[in-house]
Amino acid sequence: MELAAGILGTGSALPEKVLTNFDLEKMVETSDRWITERTGIQERHQAGPADTTSTLSVKAAKKALEMAKIGARDLDMIICATISPDMPLPSTAALIQRDLGARSCCAFDLAAACSGFLFGATVADQFIRNGKCKHVLVIGAEVLSRYVDYQDRETCVIFGDGVAATVLGVVDPPSGILASILHTDGHYADDLYIPAGGTAMPASQETITNRSHYIKMRGNELFKVAVRSMAEVSRRVLEKAQLSANQIDLFIPHQANQRITEAVRERLGVPPGRVYSNISRIGNTSSASIPICLDECVRAGRLKKGDLILMAAFGAGVTWGAVLMRW
Ligand code: ACO
Repeated sequence: MELAAGILGTGSALPEKVLTNFDLEKMVETSDRWITERTGIQERHQAGPADTTSTLSVKAAKKALEMAKIGARDLDMIICATISPDMPLPSTAALIQRDLGARSCCAFDLAAACSGFLFGATVADQFIRNGKCKHVLVIGAEVLSRYVDYQDRETCVIFGDGVAATVLGVVDPPSGILASILHTDGHYADDLYIPAGGTAMPASQETITNRSHYIKMRGNELFKVAVRSMAEVSRRVLEKAQLSANQIDLFIPHQANQRITEAVRERLGVPPGRVYSNISRIGNTSSASIPICLDECVRAGRLKKGDLILMAAFGAGVTWGAVLMRW
């Protein structure tokens, strides 16, 4: 019998500190009105000095393991989707494995920016369906505030910190991941990037002076590509599963900008009540945004067995993708 992979548990962790639009008004030339109207964001969480990508991940993972009713030692694989690792070496996944007390299962980071969770879930799906893994922990984790320039009003108003973890394992069909499509187009690499700190531009006094360790973004360019790509890949993943947009019970798009969500929803023809959005409270948490939404939905009892969930993301790279899942 063919195996199916689904979500057995979810958990999330947000730093305590909340940074509101009014706080940002005091830091850069912006206004609560501009941010709310242009992005839908009112507040976002910001990591404290003791929070790191791995410490928040461990908190989220413990909740997901508890819901899945398994222990850390039952994990066969840990995938940490992140573009804000604790450090370049070792992987954040290795630190999470150590601090969770998991056994020596394979653990690795996956860098696909805002699409990271969908890339991770798709990798996990392959390993579960081919019988190589029973339980895979897929985490979307970002502490982007460490990479955000709080002098750049185009980026600092968007990004927030947060983490969510999911345990994927074998489920009984028709539940489970039905179809997924992933893409990358490196021709847009310069539209969203951090110039310094890697092999191309190692850290130096000059890179620090030039603020080259912070996120640079051409938001306007990305906006159009994001809408087009997310709508198109969503349509194709539905086609792949021979389903249509009016059958979707819940659409969870990456929370990049409320106007992007609205434009994609309209293009797909999904009714407004079937789209999940928490961007006003959480902001854009890159790879963590979709699993945070999932965790909120699960804990609020918004998902029932048999529901059809469409998740779609777009991020730096550029990367984009969609995953269709039956709960
Ligand atoms: N406050 C006030 N004014 C601002 C702000 C701000 N925070 N930011 C920009 N502006 C100004 C600009 O300077 C510009 O002024 P000008 O007309 O005098 O030149 C004006 O507002 C319009 O700027 P735009 O860039 O056209 O604003 P836009 O409506 O596109 O909103 C935003 C900018 C929010 C960044 C939007 O383009 C966006 O959300 N883009 C998509 C981002 C995205 O999806 N990224 C990929 C995922 S993230 C990841 O992968 C990590």
